[in-house]
Amino acid sequence: MSRGVFVTGTDTGVGKTLAACALIHALAARGVRALPMKPVAAGAADHGGRPANDDTLALMEAAGLGPEALGRVTPVLLREPIAPHIAARREGVRIALAPILAALALLREDTGFLIVEGVGGFCVPLGQRLDTVDLARAVALPVVLVVGLRLGCLNHALLTARALEAAGLPLAGWIANTIDPSMAAMGENVQALRERLPGPLLGHLPHHPGARPVEFASRLAVESLLGPAP
Ligand SMILES: Nc1ncnc2c1ncn2[C@@H]1O[C@H](COP(=O)(O)OP(=O)(O)O)[C@@H](O)[C@H]1O
Ligand SMILES: [Mg+2]
Repeated sequence: MSRGVFVTGTDTGVGKTLAACALIHALAARGVRALPMKPVAAGAADHGGRPANDDTLALMEAAGLGPEALGRVTPVLLREPIAPHIAARREGVRIALAPILAALALLREDTGFLIVEGVGGFCVPLGQRLDTVDLARAVALPVVLVVGLRLGCLNHALLTARALEAAGLPLAGWIANTIDPSMAAMGENVQALRERLPGPLLGHLPHHPGARPVEFASRLAVESLLGPAP
């Protein structure tokens, strides 16, 4: 596998984009220039005369990419912020892997380390015969799982680990993200996942509303993601 990670999560809204941006900063602090990709994004707003997705923009900002990279970072941009296969159907678009892999190859020319954010959780339909598991397998990177800490996350995290195993994708590590600061027995929940997930805990992010991703970077141990350069 090439260098980089595919960032998935226990759900949508659990901090994948925040964690992916923090990973970019954490890698930069170690001298590694990581470039992001959000290959399929649902939900676009006008950005300087061009439609763009908020996740795409956040990832590009973390990596210091200009607007010329929009199409490479997000080759499949859907207008409506809904399930991607439904948004695609409404727009008469068929999501395919080929343009995504072509954009990925272009980004690879500029970096040795890619951070690819999935869409929603790990198993989200992209079309009649395509889903985000296929996407992750095609991207062929080890996976970082962002666990949004709230009641129910143990089940979501462990099911995702099983799905990763079934897909033949290694778990490079997981990130505990405090999306519900009032969660009861948080430490015990994190410990339960440390004992059961087949990859290391890369970091536990506190709940800091309004904080910038760079402020979370020092909480992430990224050394284990840095295998030998190809
Ligand atoms: N640790 C945190 N502290 C405070 N707010 C957070 C934290 N993690 C995520 N958020 C917020 O929760 C929302 C969803 O996070 P995001 O990274 O967009 O999730 P995802 O990419 O999984 O959909 C965003 O508004 C984000 O700023
Ligand atoms: Mg996101």
